[in-house]
Amino acid sequence: MILICWGLWGQSLWAEPALQTTPAWAKAEGCAACHRFSPNQPEGTAPDLFYAGNKFQQDWLVEYLQRPTVIRQAGHTRDPGFLQGQPEFTGPHPVLKPKDAATLAAALMTLKLPDLETVALATTPLSKGKKGRIKILFERDYSCIACHESYNLARQPRGGVSGPSLIDAGNRLQAEWVYLWLQQPKIFLKKGHMPVYQFDEETLLNLTRYIASHKKESGNKN
Ligand code: HEC
Ligand code: HEC
Repeated sequence: MILICWGLWGQSLWAEPALQTTPAWAKAEGCAACHRFSPNQPEGTAPDLFYAGNKFQQDWLVEYLQRPTVIRQAGHTRDPGFLQGQPEFTGPHPVLKPKDAATLAAALMTLKLPDLETVALATTPLSKGKKGRIKILFERDYSCIACHESYNLARQPRGGVSGPSLIDAGNRLQAEWVYLWLQQPKIFLKKGHMPVYQFDEETLLNLTRYIASHKKESGNKN
């Protein structure tokens, strides 16, 4: 059943004409020199942006484009030098003026995969006890911490750096996207560097809520 669904997802994704081309603004602003804006292009040295509207929170994009932070300390996994520990891109990321950041963030939010499943998630915060139990899943049962930075009990960042940092994931990522990524990463990335897990529904929801609860205190102005 799962395989049949993936087949259908694949077809609707790769056949969608809107995703065949890079938007003119992405070329004009230089973003397309590093990022991929269509799944039909060769992989870039930077993360894909053709589903940015599914993945990111708009406020975070506006902030990031003006004051970029390091998310992948060891470099991007598809950077040709990643495995040698010498990524081609060592930063800093291009910095935009506030007005341009707002305009490009809005343009990025329009980039969405067609026909994505909608996911209904609980919005109530996790209790301390439940969060503690999911932390054990994240750290021990699935070793997510081996590749991703998260918080320890004293709220200090810790963890591996081969995957993107998750310490600001609650401000950065849409929870629905996190759920779909954990369930079917191949919708977004045909060949990634993260293990593909077969979570049951409860584990999926728990991990998603746990990741969504990761917020940098100082960076969160709300
Ligand atoms: C010289 C190459 C380069 C250029 C040009 C560039 N970027 Fe990036 N961008 C990167 C790399 C590499 C990362 C990953 C940084 C990290 O993980 O710390 C990144 C990260 C991002 C992210 C976060 C993506 C994610 O999944 O974490 C966004 C959004 C982004 N760039 C938007 C843009 C926009 C908009 C432009 C054009 C104004 C642009 N970039 C131009 C290399 C580039
Ligand atoms: C072997 C290393 C590894 C392990 C273990 C791992 N991941 Fe990942 N993860 C990655 C990499 C690398 C990426 C970026 C996608 C890519 O380049 O393949 C990623 C991407 C992600 C993302 C999307 C982040 C973004 O900004 O794009 C989330 C969320 C995530 N992982 C959560 C988890 C969770 C939850 C677990 C445990 C159940 C886990 N990961 C286990 C390596 C790992």
